[in-house]
Amino acid sequence: MKGVILAGGLGKRLYPLTKITNKHLLPIFSKPMIYYPLETLLEAGIHDILIVTGGSNAGDFLRLLGDGAEFGNCHLNYTYQQGEGGIAQALNLAAHFVGKDKAVVMLGDNIIEKSIAPYVEKFQKQSAGARVLLKEVEDPERFGVAEIRGEQIVSIEEKPIYPKSSYIVIGIYLYDSNVFDVVKTLKPSARGELEITDVNNFYVSKGLMEYDLLDGWWSDAGTFDSLLRANNLVAEKMKETERVR
Ligand code: G1P
Repeated sequence: MKGVILAGGLGKRLYPLTKITNKHLLPIFSKPMIYYPLETLLEAGIHDILIVTGGSNAGDFLRLLGDGAEFGNCHLNYTYQQGEGGIAQALNLAAHFVGKDKAVVMLGDNIIEKSIAPYVEKFQKQSAGARVLLKEVEDPERFGVAEIRGEQIVSIEEKPIYPKSSYIVIGIYLYDSNVFDVVKTLKPSARGELEITDVNNFYVSKGLMEYDLLDGWWSDAGTFDSLLRANNLVAEKMKETERVR
């Protein structure tokens, strides 16, 4: 199993915080944002990781993380996304790295409380297809929203005005190696990007999409409010861990 962290984009919703740096290098409590998805993957036993970055501060990831030695058993690789082609275009840059393997793909601004190891384990046993993680939220219209019937996702809508449920697809996706063939079939959306939701809907349409409900809290960190929320959640978790020690 390979890991891919998508850490490109211009972070426009956080301007001017992102005027001179990449969103994923901004602080979340005591560490740069990129540390959290990296630690989430490593904790789940995924040690071969590709970081896809972009923009004018890509070199700072190398200065910050180097070869990953400070994280122990960790093999870091890097690639560069030209321009702003969307999450699925960034993912496509991982095709060579992932090869015939399976991959856990994480958006670099998604921060979670607990381990993803149980979901990774289930995906190891899944013969083919994809797996997403859902979370119930109060503002589903900001995200990819899953319509669920029984045990199956029947559709995912990206930022719908009228969400069909309050369950959203968080930015941690588990894919088989066919994902790169799926990306090739995509057309840019109205905002000119290759959408990860279109990738997921392809698997849904083939009956090859499974899901789990994420245990513990989750936050993205791409807006001022969610960045603040992520900071507060991590701060509480760190203090709780210290108290228990
Ligand atoms: C992206 C995805 C969306 C997903 C969200 C999770 O949204 O397009 O489907 O629910 O990440 O963080 P964006 O952060 O680009 O608005």
